[in-house]
Amino acid sequence: MNIILLGYPGSGKGTQAKVLSRKLGLFHVSTGDIFREELGRKTPLGEEVAGYISAGRLVPDKLVMEVLKSRLSTETRGLLFDGFPRTVEQAEALDAWFGSRGQAIDAVIFLDVPESDVASRLGARRTCTGCGKIYNTITNPPAKENVCDACGKPLMTRDDDKPEVIARRIQVYNDQTEPLLAYYRSSGIFHRADGSKAPDAVAEELVAMLSGKP
Ligand code: AP5
Ligand code: MG
Repeated sequence: MNIILLGYPGSGKGTQAKVLSRKLGLFHVSTGDIFREELGRKTPLGEEVAGYISAGRLVPDKLVMEVLKSRLSTETRGLLFDGFPRTVEQAEALDAWFGSRGQAIDAVIFLDVPESDVASRLGARRTCTGCGKIYNTITNPPAKENVCDACGKPLMTRDDDKPEVIARRIQVYNDQTEPLLAYYRSSGIFHRADGSKAPDAVAEELVAMLSGKP
């Protein structure tokens, strides 16, 4: 089973992908996490994408596809895409790539959250530097301030979670990613989920939605 999670920055894609990948045995593919990991290791790819990420702009489609193809060429598990595709061009490239491998996307899930909610969610996000667990200082704080409940490592604030960069990411979503909804809506595999419910309730809805899939 191959799944795409779509939605605004801060709609809960990462939060839900961590739960779903574990429950359904899928490989979680977050292009944002891949780029941040490369950035952290100061690799040539990290240096190449740094400017785009810090400005809240999209990494060029060609580079995104190259990175994914090289990372996923030997992966045999089903894929759970989080933050990819981001443009109609990426969706078309994914279709062509999967077509050439005899694979298909089984479900596209749009995590629907009002635009007015996402900036406050992102401003309060903290992420574990060890295991990547996602917190929120208002709605889902760790038991001990700035320390991960799961692995005990310190939490960090993402560099692109500054108000001006958040605003740019929302604008980029509206301009370049929102058209994907129309692209997938007519495909017969498109589902909308109410992303404004509590995270556990959203996860329950997604598992129920996917339980009928092969
Ligand atoms: P990426 O890492 O993909 O970021 P994003 O799409 O902006 O999404 P976020 O990770 O910010 O939000 P999320 O939906 O995962 O929400 P989360 O679960 O963390 O991309 C970063 C950058 O990399 C891009 O700007 C671009 O430069 C580049 N990039 C990446 N992929 C690319 C691609 N394919 N093409 C080109 N460039 C690319 O939750 C957010 C907060 O909300 C947390 O605090 C969480 O606790 C809280 N929360 C989650 N669910 C709920 C809920 N149900 N109720 C209340 N709070 C909730
Ligand atoms: Mg994310």
